Amino acid sequence: MHITIALQNTARKTENLIVLATAEKEIPKEQFSKEEMSFIRKEIKDKKKQIVINQYKRLAIVQLVTDNSEYANLEIVRKAGAVLAGRLNGVKANQATISSTISTEVVMAFSEGLILSNYQFLKYKSKAASEKNSLKSVGIHHKSITKSDIDYLKAICTAVYKTRDLVNEPPNFLTAVELSNQFTKMGKDAGFTVKVFDKEEITKMKMGGLLSVNLGSIDPPTFTVMEYKPANAVNTKPYVLVGKGVVYDTGGMSLKPTPNSMDSMKCDMAGGAAVGGAMYAIAKSKLPVHVIALVPATDNRPDGNAYVPGDVITMMSGKTVEVLNTDAEGRLILADALHYAKSLKPELVMEFSTLTGAAAAAIGQYGIVSMGKVNDATRAELEIAGNNVYERLAEFPMWDEYDDLLKSDIADLKNIGGPYGGAITAGRFLLNFTDYPYMHFDIAGPAFIKGNDSYRGKNGTGVGVRLITEFIKNRVK
Ligand code: BES
Ligand code: MN
Ligand code: ZN
Repeated sequence: MHITIALQNTARKTENLIVLATAEKEIPKEQFSKEEMSFIRKEIKDKKKQIVINQYKRLAIVQLVTDNSEYANLEIVRKAGAVLAGRLNGVKANQATISSTISTEVVMAFSEGLILSNYQFLKYKSKAASEKNSLKSVGIHHKSITKSDIDYLKAICTAVYKTRDLVNEPPNFLTAVELSNQFTKMGKDAGFTVKVFDKEEITKMKMGGLLSVNLGSIDPPTFTVMEYKPANAVNTKPYVLVGKGVVYDTGGMSLKPTPNSMDSMKCDMAGGAAVGGAMYAIAKSKLPVHVIALVPATDNRPDGNAYVPGDVITMMSGKTVEVLNTDAEGRLILADALHYAKSLKPELVMEFSTLTGAAAAAIGQYGIVSMGKVNDATRAELEIAGNNVYERLAEFPMWDEYDDLLKSDIADLKNIGGPYGGAITAGRFLLNFTDYPYMHFDIAGPAFIKGNDSYRGKNGTGVGVRLITEFIKNRVK
């Protein structure tokens, strides 16, 4: 992350200033001249939300917000933060100090929006220096925001940046092996352990789903296990995160068309990246919780040796699957990871994947399709966490009847359902490989977006990281 965040005990007059206020009474008068204050008063009367004053040595901006911590308001505030980052970069400002007397939650949300929107992916730009955002440091001046609040914000934003980087990396760099290397680096940096199983070990474990999808690839698969287990963990059974790590999805022999389909399929490891990012945020902020993340990874390609529609494969669990479409590959690699998770005796398994176009078609980029088998309390906590970070959940039904659509004539299951309910049959397929409280999150809609969506930016959004971390943080509080 090329932006630094620091707590400040004053708002210095030489630094660009952003005042967050609900009304005139909260504006520090000493920062403005009489003329400026009367201009501000007039603008407030005219219902302006952002008042920019070009002072001699700096910009002083008054941002009017509503001071309540309802989730819809926090999202408005994050977006205001993103607009402001755009303004600061527009005038080539290097730094700004956010100063406020309103509630911590609102100031933190504003800062988060500002920082997350400053993200760029310039690794492959030969003129990166000239395209780089000027904004490099943000100060926060607030009487009750603590160093640990700032550290948490840093951890979250860094984790989201890293997740976006992984999603944005092109497939000729980010092979399965490279994805695992990146997780290893993140583990060293944040303080969690990373064990990467190679093809030989994956073969010994009989991960038939992962091995079959990998048959068409010239690169070996990996299975990464990340673990964070601090001495002060409050849970006895681990939380287990599972993420889809298809580093590129051509569809395999059931080849995808290029426009608006295969062309964005480097994003098919966004679930894996999100659980790695969440591990990073959790470990960096030292949450007292035992968490394990599993990422099965490979690309999915056609080749002389590739698996084909009609193949019957034996999964790690021993179940047989008739493959009728090689483009329904995510569920095959995830099934093995979900089976592996049984041995961890988890408290709860949360699995993130860009699993179906059907999920994206149903709700677009504005939320996450979720479904699963958890108790009502967990379901409610997940919904609250989703709202708080504005990675909202749209829960689909996981009714038993959908299993009818997955019946095969010759094997235990087939890997596709019918033309309807595609997001649900995919989730239902995965349920066959679980024996613990389980929630499936289909992020095909929000993981990778074409247009600029405020602080989510465009391309890889890092969706999932903030949801997981928020949920876990609230759980262990
Ligand atoms: N990776 C895709 C799903 C996807 C689509 C992710 C759009 C992100 C954006 C997945 O592997 C896939 O191809 N799913 C098929 C399943 C079908 C063959 C049953 C799909 O959704 O078309
Ligand atoms: Mn596919
Ligand atoms: Zn896929």
